[in-house]
Amino acid sequence: VSAGSRAAALFETTFAGAPEGLWSAPGRLNLIGEHTDYNDGFALPFAIPQRTAVAADPRSDGRLVVVSAERPGLVDTASAGLAPGTVSDWSAYPLGVLWALRQASGEEVLGGGLSLAIASDVPPGAGLSSSAALESATALAINDLAGLRLNRHQLAAAGRLAENRMVGAPTGILDQLASLLSRPDAALLLDCRDGETTPVDLGLAAAGLAVLVVDSGVQHRLADGGYAQRRAQCEAAAEVLGVRSLRDATLAGLEAARERLGDVLYRRARHVITENARVLSTVRLVGQGEPRELGPLITASHVSLRDDFEVSVPELDAIVEAALGAGALGARLVGGGFGGSALTLVPRERTDDVAAAVARTFAARGAAAPTPVEVHPSAAARREA
Ligand code: GLA
Repeated sequence: VSAGSRAAALFETTFAGAPEGLWSAPGRLNLIGEHTDYNDGFALPFAIPQRTAVAADPRSDGRLVVVSAERPGLVDTASAGLAPGTVSDWSAYPLGVLWALRQASGEEVLGGGLSLAIASDVPPGAGLSSSAALESATALAINDLAGLRLNRHQLAAAGRLAENRMVGAPTGILDQLASLLSRPDAALLLDCRDGETTPVDLGLAAAGLAVLVVDSGVQHRLADGGYAQRRAQCEAAAEVLGVRSLRDATLAGLEAARERLGDVLYRRARHVITENARVLSTVRLVGQGEPRELGPLITASHVSLRDDFEVSVPELDAIVEAALGAGALGARLVGGGFGGSALTLVPRERTDDVAAAVARTFAARGAAAPTPVEVHPSAAARREA
């Protein structure tokens, strides 16, 4: 049963009536370009088939009432005075979007209140951006219900503001742009400095390649401090290098400032500089019809995230190693790191071998084997009904 029908059914049982509409938005997989977005850099995500749906209806009693098929209980809070600190936990994502849209429009958007029922197929904490899926579906719903006529870049900004201020995770714009602006069958080259998005045909299926996502089972949480610390280190490195952001740094400039940066800031900056270059190389290679050549770039991204940026965990390293040993062309952690999933680029005829190798690795650690999930570029956020 799709997330859409589950959200609609949950709405009807909770609110004893039909919602005005149903909206959904996808999670995303970032093919390459990690921890570059908040450095004004490049990334190459695509929307995945797994989606989050929200059924929504305005209210007139001044209450915000939110239920989720994935969470126990019901959140019921006052519409007036909604602000950072007034809601916590998972409802900070959808209600944070309402707050952010009030900030963006300068109006008391849906001041009479809102009923929301949520259902999701995007696994949480897996590095597939369940948070952006929820934010983007909610943003689209509120935009329609309140007649705001904001464009998708503005809705993405509202999702990010919700996450930054209501949830307290200082994330960039990658996830929300991917969820709101992706096209089916293409990845999206993001220039996070100006928000420009360019569809890029990856040609993976035609080249006989599959992308498998393997959840390490280690839940990652971006509000936990490691992410914010990396971000602060990038800003500190940019300052030492005398550039506006690491987007403008070069390897030559980095080497010249090595002493002044110190080992940690040097490695953090090196990751960002080389990762931006890997994104552009990826786009070049697929443009030349060579998607099989992407493997080494993807694996180099992992090594850089592991050694220079230090956001991997042993479980992710083990998945990457097992997949490469079983015939994957490339493998790396995806998303913010500190847990979550790894992606593997695999010739179609080797997908069973990769799944088996990963299962053996987990068994050797006494853990239950995850089921690798195949993902392919899918549709962006949309109204369903
Ligand atoms: C998380 C954040 C994004 C981005 C990635 C790392 O997904 O939400 O903004 O920084 O981590 O690339």
